[in-house]
Amino acid sequence: MTEQSRRLVLAQRPSGMVDDTIVRVETVDVPEPGPGEAVVRVSHLSIDPTIRTWMDDAPGYLPPIEIDAVIRSGGLGTVVASQNDHFPVGATIFGMVGWQDHAVLDDTPGAGQVVPDGMDPTAVLSVFGVTGMTAYFGLLDIGQPKEGDTVVVSGAAGATGSVVGQIAKIKGAANVVGIAGGPEKCAWLVDELGFDAAIDYKAGPVGPQLRKLCPDGIDIYFDNVGGEILDACLANLALNARIVCCGAISAYNDRGDAPGLKNYFSLITRRARMEGFLILDFQDRFAEAQGDLFGWVLDGKIKHAVHVVDGLEHAPDALNLLFTGGNTGKVIVAL
Ligand SMILES: NC(=O)c1ccc[n+]([C@@H]2O[C@H](COP(=O)([O-])OP(=O)(O)OC[C@H]3O[C@@H](n4cnc5c(N)ncnc54)[C@H](OP(=O)(O)O)[C@@H]3O)[C@@H](O)[C@H]2O)c1
Repeated sequence: MTEQSRRLVLAQRPSGMVDDTIVRVETVDVPEPGPGEAVVRVSHLSIDPTIRTWMDDAPGYLPPIEIDAVIRSGGLGTVVASQNDHFPVGATIFGMVGWQDHAVLDDTPGAGQVVPDGMDPTAVLSVFGVTGMTAYFGLLDIGQPKEGDTVVVSGAAGATGSVVGQIAKIKGAANVVGIAGGPEKCAWLVDELGFDAAIDYKAGPVGPQLRKLCPDGIDIYFDNVGGEILDACLANLALNARIVCCGAISAYNDRGDAPGLKNYFSLITRRARMEGFLILDFQDRFAEAQGDLFGWVLDGKIKHAVHVVDGLEHAPDALNLLFTGGNTGKVIVAL
């Protein structure tokens, strides 16, 4: 009998969290590689908030996932059959493998990258992967930190935010404040990662705490969440502040109802800059980021956490963790 492979497809577009009415499991034959193609047995999926945005029928930086198509996702796998010299059998590949047991990589440039032998797969998908590099380029290129800065980061106990705060300390920030949900996450930021302070946004309004913890105002706000927390930071800016628009996860489940900003005029009075970016724009500099991140992890200057969920069938639950805050650090599904 031909070997079978599971895949998770988009059954219908969600209007909130993703459940089993949104994602359907299908079983198909394991594909054979055509000319120029390689078949990868997927081992790990990178679970990213942006996957939820791709499920909407809305304009974005990539086209929406089509109905009945496999859920788009980055991940790792091992080449099990190949007609592509760049992806030999046995190689570990990072690419857009999708939520499925087997993926076909074609020969378009960037379809996949060979991962060096011996790398920890969870580190490849986290601190040395998209989220680590997003922290790196977002903070250093867009935020442009200076010695003595006050840096505030939201989603601070997540994959991106936790690395942002630690890079800020490495670069000489005098005061790094993380905003996260819950006392355990806040304690982890301060006690383990070396943040100067943390605000539990679920325990009360953020604005008064920001005024107390950032008496000279915020020089850099690294925004992962948007919404009310962004507005509270806007009201507490230092002169010439930089706001790094990395993500707006508070709005991904109901984009149409996202609240407006009351305090945007602070950009004028504080002569501040607010700038968005996509990690995709930095592809030609990934080696630079990975080199620095590798060194900092080796030196113990950056610690990272991963939250591994077992089983392809639990990928939707893993995605939802990002929105309930059930994760500390990077969410990965192990197949
Ligand atoms: N621009 C780019 O190229 C790029 C690349 C990668 C990621 N991103 C963005 O970076 C952000 C973080 O992504 P990640 O992969 O590192 O995820 P993550 O931070 O590991 O997980 C998301 C975290 O967001 C927090 N959160 C969820 N809903 C929230 C809400 N309504 N208000 C406040 N916090 C909320 C949760 O933590 P709490 O427990 O603290 O609520 C959750 O743990 C996302 O916005 C993502 O889209 C952007």
